[in-house]
Amino acid sequence: MTDTGKYTMNLICIGAGYVGGPTMAMIAAKCPQYKVTVVDINAERIAAWNSEKLPIYEPGLYDVVKIARGRNLFFSTAIADAINEADVIFVSVNTPTKTFGEGAGRAADLQYWEKTARDIIKASTSDKIIVEKSTLPVRTAHAMERILNANDKGIHFEVLSNPEFLAEGTAIEDLKAPDRVLIGSQLTESGLAARNKLVEIYANWVSRDRILTSNVWSAELSKLVANAFLAQRISSINSISMLCECTEASVSEVAKAIGMDNRIGSRFLNASVGFGGSCFKKDILNLVYICESYGLTEVASYWENVVLMNEYQKKRFVKNMIRVMFNTIAGKRIALFGFAFKADTGDTRESPAIDIAKQLVDEHAKVVITDPEAIDNAAKDLQGCLNFVTFDTDPYSAAKGAHAIAIMTEWKCYKDLDYERIYKTMEKPAFIFDGRNILDHKKLYETGFNVYPLGKECWKHF
Ligand code: UDX
Ligand code: UDX
Repeated sequence: MTDTGKYTMNLICIGAGYVGGPTMAMIAAKCPQYKVTVVDINAERIAAWNSEKLPIYEPGLYDVVKIARGRNLFFSTAIADAINEADVIFVSVNTPTKTFGEGAGRAADLQYWEKTARDIIKASTSDKIIVEKSTLPVRTAHAMERILNANDKGIHFEVLSNPEFLAEGTAIEDLKAPDRVLIGSQLTESGLAARNKLVEIYANWVSRDRILTSNVWSAELSKLVANAFLAQRISSINSISMLCECTEASVSEVAKAIGMDNRIGSRFLNASVGFGGSCFKKDILNLVYICESYGLTEVASYWENVVLMNEYQKKRFVKNMIRVMFNTIAGKRIALFGFAFKADTGDTRESPAIDIAKQLVDEHAKVVITDPEAIDNAAKDLQGCLNFVTFDTDPYSAAKGAHAIAIMTEWKCYKDLDYERIYKTMEKPAFIFDGRNILDHKKLYETGFNVYPLGKECWKHF
């Protein structure tokens, strides 16, 4: 089916986003025998993938792209041609939370997925394997299989679920050496054959004991559950950060003590101003919606509280700032250090900094935002309040004349700044609110700052 004898298989991916782009680049780099084409409706995005400046910032990504681009990795907007040529089609289009109608605010909006399924039918002239990469509600594969196989061309589509577990900022490492690759399929003869084909693709660089197979529903559900469990840990430790602030306990000491219990484990126990990112909130709300739709009200509300705790943590952070800064921040310059939802990415989707900035603006503070990679996205996120917000790529000038600095993102560069220099240029009393607990609080206090970490005693001069 491939266009030339040069390649043994044609793989394509529809959706050149944070998931589709890096995943396919890794497959292409590891498997020169396959032709890998990534297509997208967004021509600007595709042009960026073909340029020196990729559309997303991800450490190590450019090096991987460079290995394969033009050799066996191609980025294109010719979606129909690519579909027609493909043996295997990965689908990684976005599945945002629905904003309208039934399930608004909770359910996944599957309109792009369904549209993609219809594009696939239209352009196909041969049997194909369709791989769900997008996070989808349980049983979507079933619905998609029905839509796809209702075609009147006599073409057979086999739908697999192969959720992606990469985290932004470490995507390349995660793809190179994944904890596991999960492939769900129907347990029919054709389902198992398709599953084996996908296993063989990953087995080019992932050891077979890390490639898990399951039925298709388990694979779909596992993705939602993995994200729900990860987010739950953060909400759990954030809830404890509040208790620590009321007592003389330190959340870092508590996290260390509990994390040394192998059954609990030490990762994902950093208290923060809140979790962000495109997946956690969306996937949990999706899980909540699914539980509700099966009448599991208590289960739904259990998981919904993970999101509610996260919302509360963000509100509480700003409330605390206002209380500490003498109950008013109106007219005060406040510098937000970091806007990305986590370090090492320019992505700001669901970043806690968005809510924090908006709350500060509501209080009439003058907000200045600095971030090494996310300024452009920040400006888009804050469209409605640009009169009250300024941007500065240099943290030193952002802090100049400010009453307070609030750390929003755990960028390493913020640990290494010269805070004595910064202190001298700020209004006094000068405050630091460390929403990620990354700074040396005692040293900052000695410099003259009033320091408010998360889940620990504060260091103040009055
Ligand atoms: C997306 C989903 O958000 C996530 O739930 C899923 O797990 C993987 O896919 P991400 O790659 O981060 O994650 O999304 P995004 O960066 O928005 O990329 C999606 C791409 O699909 C966009 O470039 C968009 O232009 C493209 N797209 C969307 C199409 O090519 N066709 C469509 O019909 C819709
Ligand atoms: C997550 C999952 O980790 C990944 O497996 C899935 O494929 C997509 O969703 P991502 O959102 O890219 O990945 O980043 P992650 O590292 O999970 O961080 C999510 C949010 O939680 C960030 O805002 C981060 O700052 C926050 N976080 C993480 C904490 O607040 N504390 C922690 O201890 C860890």
